[in-house]
Amino acid sequence: MRKVSFAEFGGPDVLRLTDAEEPHAGPGRIRIAVRAAGVNPVDWRIREGQKLGAHPTELPSGVGLDAAGVVDEVGEGVEGVEIGDHVFGEGSSTYAEFAVLSAWARMPEGLTFEEAAGYPSVVETALRIVREVGVQPGQTLLVSGASGGVGSAVLQIARDRGIRVIGTAGAANQDYLRGLGALATTYGEGWVERVRRLGPVDAALDLAGSGVLRELVELVGDPHKVVSIADLGAPEFGVRFSGVAGSAPDALAAAADLISRGRLHIPVEKSYPLAEAAAAHIDSRAGHTRGRRVIVV
Ligand SMILES: NC(=O)c1ccc[n+]([C@@H]2O[C@H](COP(=O)([O-])OP(=O)(O)OC[C@H]3O[C@@H](n4cnc5c(N)ncnc54)[C@H](OP(=O)(O)O)[C@@H]3O)[C@@H](O)[C@H]2O)c1
Repeated sequence: MRKVSFAEFGGPDVLRLTDAEEPHAGPGRIRIAVRAAGVNPVDWRIREGQKLGAHPTELPSGVGLDAAGVVDEVGEGVEGVEIGDHVFGEGSSTYAEFAVLSAWARMPEGLTFEEAAGYPSVVETALRIVREVGVQPGQTLLVSGASGGVGSAVLQIARDRGIRVIGTAGAANQDYLRGLGALATTYGEGWVERVRRLGPVDAALDLAGSGVLRELVELVGDPHKVVSIADLGAPEFGVRFSGVAGSAPDALAAAADLISRGRLHIPVEKSYPLAEAAAAHIDSRAGHTRGRRVIVV
């Protein structure tokens, strides 16, 4: 099969489209014929050799955690899924013609493979951090960096739960945030005052890692009501860094439910063929993805 991999850490040019042995579904796993793989910032962070704790990487390594496709092997002990089912989920080396998934759910009706591949990690992350920050219905959540993949999911989960959101994004994404039910303002010079004018906030999420934790704590008034997924310096400010993924099967089921009810939609910013994975990484790393980028297999 064809698979994207890298033999040394480095820039996008270390990515190679290679012929590789097909993986097989061990106990508790399934294998899919991949139709599309989601591109997450963690993919290029791992490729660069960034120390991420939760993702120790052995070389040579495949790329990608998220995928959607057609089940073609079911491992021992797995129930509730059959060969031929269309699923989306999380696994490893998903930029490939076949990949093994460790967590999955049936794709909701009407979703394309390309769209479905964009959901798994961002929805798991969004559900986790909304829970960890402890924001309640009726309260206001400030989201710094609200227009990317995780932000898009956070805004819609919050709207579904009756949580008011103030989001920051670039000028081009103000209407996008409003379309997801948030009050919107731009980041950059003067942003704290612009947020204050939109009203008091009860909790805040830092999704961009843009060095704003001191200001987020000031705006909320309590570091325990601030969570970052992108700033490893968070503990210096008494802020929780949330980095450990968990309960992915529950998150996928929750995602499927929200999508089926028309409460969650993450747009695909751009699709790339397997041979252009390096371009997808360059574009993702530029830091202005609206929704998700995907690799089409
Ligand atoms: N710890 C975890 O569990 C975990 C899980 C998932 C992701 N992450 C990390 O969280 C970050 C976000 O992930 P993602 O998938 O949502 O990324 P993404 O889709 O690439 O989105 C990045 C967003 O950041 C915004 N942005 C860029 N510069 C900004 C600034 N100075 N202030 C505020 N926003 C800014 C961009 O908005 P505009 O285009 O509007 O400028 C863009 O929408 C990444 O660093 C990723 O590695 C961590």
